[in-house]
Order: sequence, then C-alpha cells, then structure tokens
Amino acid sequence: MTHSVQKAVIPVAGLGKRLWPATKILPKEFLPIGTKPSIYFILEELTQAGLKEAILITSSEKKSYLEHLPDVFPSLQFHFVEQKEPLGLGHAVGLSEKIVAGESFLVLLPDDIVDHTKTASTQLIEIFQKTKKSVSAAKKVAKAEASAYGIYDVTSAQGKCRRVQGVVEKPHPDEAPSNLAIFGRYLFTSNIFKHLQNTSKGRNGEIQLADAMHTLAKTDQLDALELEGKLFDIGNPEGLARANLYFGIKEYGDSIIDL
Ligand code: G1P
Repeated sequence: MTHSVQKAVIPVAGLGKRLWPATKILPKEFLPIGTKPSIYFILEELTQAGLKEAILITSSEKKSYLEHLPDVFPSLQFHFVEQKEPLGLGHAVGLSEKIVAGESFLVLLPDDIVDHTKTASTQLIEIFQKTKKSVSAAKKVAKAEASAYGIYDVTSAQGKCRRVQGVVEKPHPDEAPSNLAIFGRYLFTSNIFKHLQNTSKGRNGEIQLADAMHTLAKTDQLDALELEGKLFDIGNPEGLARANLYFGIKEYGDSIIDL
C-alpha cells in the first residue's frame, strides 16, 4: 500500500506496574504472547502497514533491551529518544516532534494489539487518505470501564467513523460523554504538537495526550474510527492472559485448554 505516512511513534517508557512482579524483571513490551515479545506485534503491524521509521520513546533502563530490534526488523529505520522523567503520554509523544519534522504520523501504544487481516494502522491510514485530518482509534466499552480510558465525545457518524468534539481522560463513569474509548492507535497531523506544547498537567499530574486531542478536536478536526478486529489490552494481567489464550488457541488449536 503506498501512502504518505512514513513515521510511527511508540512510547515504551512506562513502568508496567500493573504487571508486577513480571515487569520488575522484564519490560512489559518484552513479555511474550506465545513465544513472541509483545513489541514484535507492534513492529510487525508497522511493517505490514508500509511504515518506514519507528521512533521509540524509551527510558534509560529499557535501552539495552531495545538494541536488537533493528536486526529483527531490518525494513524499519529506528530512532530512540529518551524520556528522562515520567511526565505522561502527551509528554512522551511531544518528544518526537523534531524527528517527525512536520509530517503526519502514527502513534501506537504497545499495550494495545489487534488481530485482523487489515492492521489497525492500515485502517487509520485509509481514513486519513480521504480526510487528510487526524483520526484515532475507538472501541466500545461498558460504562463501568470508562474510568480506565480516554473517552470520546462524538457527534455525527459516517459508518464506524465519528467526528470528535471533545475527549475526556479517564472520567468517572457517570461523567463519561459516550461509550467510545480511545484505543492505542492514533494518526495525527503535525498540528498535534502545538496542542501538546500548550497542554498543562492533567489527570495523575501528567501531560495527557487526550487533553491535546481535546483541543485539536475543538480547533481543527479529529475523527474516531471504531476498529475492526479482535482487540487486546495487554497492559493488565487479565488482558495479557486473554491474549495468550487467544493467540495460543489460534496457533495450536483449542485442545490446549483441555485441562
Ligand atoms: C492510555 C491513554 C488513554 C487510552 C489508553 C488506551 O491510558 O491515556 O486515553 O484510552 O491508553 O489503551 P493507559 O492505558 O496508559 O493508562
């Protein structure tokens, strides 16, 4: 597929506290799903979607783990940028501004993986090719789960794609503006950076990407695309177990759960 999106930002500086004690020993991006480190799913997605450059926002502790990735994914050019303080997802993405250099770019959160013939990145790129505007991924969640996600406030819908008029990071379920949560795939025009620069600390005292998306939606255009495919959040123990079961059964058949 030929398209103009070449670069992807992958924030990998997080501590993975929800997966302790495993992540005290191994960064969460390297916890295996089957025999494959989970970050490989993200980098395979990029390769399949025709991306050329991966910009990893790392912490100093993770650097050595990441060194072998260029050998495993030779078609991608890698950049490593260190996030020196844990100031949040918005801060992490903001650190890529120089390398992104005015282009439209993807952001992939490695906690979130999708199994579908058409990758999540490709699904976003197809919308972007029509609109030339920012578009990010959505999934429907139960009301009680709203406080674990950024939640979209949406208006008009064109099929699975909705115009966003606001975003709230991790609202109380009673205050959630919809049941559409942000899933960790985003395609931004470089306009997002000026909103990130103007975003002050929000939820948890961190610079939230969702807050910058809120002002982007208000002043420019943001669409939310409900993704097709099987979605997994592997940043929590249940989600990691679910992904291992799903991909395990896919690979070896359901006899593996005949305990
Ligand atoms: C992050 C974002 C949130 C988004 C979620 C998707 O939260 O801040 O808006 O809904 O990823 O996985 P985290 O899961 O890092 O707490």
